[in-house]
Amino acid sequence: LMADKSEIQEFINHQNSLDTLRFITCGSVDDGKSTLLGRMLYEAQLIFDDQVDSLVKDSKKIGTQGDKIDFALLVDGLAAEREQGITIDVAYRFFSSENRKFIVADSPGHEQYTRNMVTAASNADLAIILVDARNGILPQTKRHSFLINLMGIKQVIVAINKMDLVKYDQKVFSALKDEYQKHVAEKLNFNEIKYIPVSATEGDNIIKDSKNMQWYKGDQLMETLEKIEVFKQNSESFSMPVQIVNRPTLNFRGFCGRISSGELKTGDVIKVTNSGEKANVEKIFNGDADVDKANEQDSVTITLNKEIDISRGDILTSSTDSLEMVKSFAGKLVWFDEEPGYTNRQYILKTSHSQKNCEIVRIKNKIDVNTYKKITATKLSMNDIAECEIVLDDRLTMSSFESNKTLGNFILIDKISNLTIAAGIMLHSLRRSENVRWQDTDVNLGMRQRIIGQEATVIWFTGMSGTGKSTISNLLEKKLSSEGRLTYLLDGDNLRHGINKDLGFREEDRIENIRRAGEISKILFDAGIIVLASFISPYASDRLRIKSLFPKGKFHEVYVKSSIETLKKRDTKGLYAKALKGDIPNFTGINSPYEEPKKPDLFIDTDKTNPQEAVDLINNYLKKLKCI
Ligand code: ADX
Repeated sequence: LMADKSEIQEFINHQNSLDTLRFITCGSVDDGKSTLLGRMLYEAQLIFDDQVDSLVKDSKKIGTQGDKIDFALLVDGLAAEREQGITIDVAYRFFSSENRKFIVADSPGHEQYTRNMVTAASNADLAIILVDARNGILPQTKRHSFLINLMGIKQVIVAINKMDLVKYDQKVFSALKDEYQKHVAEKLNFNEIKYIPVSATEGDNIIKDSKNMQWYKGDQLMETLEKIEVFKQNSESFSMPVQIVNRPTLNFRGFCGRISSGELKTGDVIKVTNSGEKANVEKIFNGDADVDKANEQDSVTITLNKEIDISRGDILTSSTDSLEMVKSFAGKLVWFDEEPGYTNRQYILKTSHSQKNCEIVRIKNKIDVNTYKKITATKLSMNDIAECEIVLDDRLTMSSFESNKTLGNFILIDKISNLTIAAGIMLHSLRRSENVRWQDTDVNLGMRQRIIGQEATVIWFTGMSGTGKSTISNLLEKKLSSEGRLTYLLDGDNLRHGINKDLGFREEDRIENIRRAGEISKILFDAGIIVLASFISPYASDRLRIKSLFPKGKFHEVYVKSSIETLKKRDTKGLYAKALKGDIPNFTGINSPYEEPKKPDLFIDTDKTNPQEAVDLINNYLKKLKCI
C-alpha cells in the first residue's frame, strides 16, 4: 500500500511539474475537428479499453467510416450532435503526454456557434485551424482566424486535413499554405504559424510521421504541440477586484478577492483605482495560510499598512498600473444575436469586475471577413465583427485588452431577453467624456414645482398608429389645462416635423426617435411640467430605457390598443390601406413589429372604450396615485 501511495505521489508530482498548453480547434463543419482530436487521444492511448470497445461498436452502428473506427464519436459526446452530425457546445478535454499537459476546447464549426468559439478562444494559447484540403481556405477559415486573433491568440497551427483524399499531393499542400499565408496570416498579427499536412482518418502526421508524405520534413502534430514554446503575454501587472471587506475585529481589516491578473507579494505598493490612494501590502492570506506571495486566480485576503478608503467593488492594482476610470471607450466586438444590434439602444455591459448600462454610440466600421477590409455599417448583424464606440452610464475601470486580457474584455447582455448578445475587447479610452461634467444648478425641480404649484409627471402613450393615442392625449391635455395644470403634449408626428425630421421608420431610426423623445420629456419633466408623450414606441427595450430616466412613480406607461380589424376599418390617415398595398415599407403592425407592453400601468382597449372614457380612466388613475 505504501508503495502504491508513493507511486501515486510521484505521478502527481510529475503532473504538477508539467506546463500546460491550452488550445482550441476550429474549422468548418466536416473539416474533421472531432476526428482529429479523437485520433490524437486514441493514438496517445489516452482512452480506456472499455471506451475502445464501445467505440468499435458505435462506429459500426452510427459511424460514418464503414467498418473502420469513427474517431469523431470519441469527442462528439453529446447525443444531439451525434444525430445531427455537428458539434454543438464547447467540449473541454484534458490529457497529458510525457512532457506537457493539454487542455483542448473543441469548438463548434457551425456558423451560429461563434459564441462558443469566442468563449473558448479567450482562454487559449494556441489554435489549430483545420482546412479541408479539397475545399481550401473558406470564408469560415478566415472568420475563425480573425476571431482567434482578436481574442489574443498569437500562435496557430494550420492543419491541412484530408490529404488522403488529394492523393497526398505536395502541390495541394503548398498551394493552400501560400494562400493562407497571403490572404490570412499577412493581414493578422500572429507570432507563429506552423503548417502541417495531415489525415485525421488515416492517422498521417497526427502522432506518427506519415509514410505517405515523405516530402514533409516538419514535425507531426503531437510533436509540434509538445515542443511549441508557449508565448505568454508580457507578464501582466497585479489587479484584483475587492469582493468583501472583512472586519471581524476592530484591529483587523482585510480585503478579499480573487487576483485577476499578475502576482502580489508582501511589501508591494498597491493602488485603489477609484481614488488613486496607495498603501503597502502587509499580509497575504491564501485560505488560512499566511503567505509571502500569491498568483493569478488565487483567492486571497490582504491587509495593508495603513487605513485607506476601500470598499466592495473597488479594484486594487499595482501602483504603476495604467488602469483608467472611463465613461466611454473604443472596442471591437463580435455580434452573436440573431436580433441585430443598433446604436443608441441600451445594453448591459459586463466585465470581470462590474456591470453597467451602456450604449453603442457609433459603429466605426465592420470587418469584411473575406478581405479583412473595413466597411461602413449602421447595424450589427449576427457574426459581424465591428469596431465601436461605447458610452457607459457610470465610470468603469478599464484597461486595453492588449495590456490586460482579464480586465480588457467584456460582454453585452440584452436587457429584455437576458442573452449574451456580443463579446468584445477594449482598445482605448475615449477621453472626451471625461471633460464633460454634470453642472448642478441652484434652481431645481423642487423649486420649479413650488412656483407652478404642481408635481411633474410623465404619461407615456404607446400603441400602434391609429389606436387613438393622439386623440386621447389631446383630450386629456385639455382637461388638465382646464383644471389649471401646466402640461405639454409631445406627439410623434409633430416631432418628426422638427427635431426628428432626419429620421425615418427603420429600426435604428425609431430607436433614435424614442431616445430623443425621452430626453425631451426629461427636460420638460425637470421644468415641472406634466408631460404627455404619444409615440408608437414599438420596441420594449427602448420603452424600458425611457422609464429608467425618471424617478420611481413618475413615469406612467399607457398602452392604447385596438384590434387590427378596427385599425384597418378606421384608418383615418389612410396609412393602413397604403401599407397593405405595399406602399409604406416598415409600417408598424403590417411589416414592422410592435412589441406589446407586458405590464403597462394602464391598458386601454379602444375597441371597447371611447376617448372620453379613456380620459376618465387615466384621470382617475393619476388622482388615485396623487400624481395630479
Ligand atoms: S415611432 O415608431 O418612431 O414611435 P412615431 O410615433 O414617432 O413612430 O410616428 C408614428 C406616426 O408616423 C404614425 O402615427 C403615422 O402617422 C406615421 N407613419 C408614417 N410612416 C409610418 C410607418 N412606417 N410606421 C408607423 N407609422 C408611420
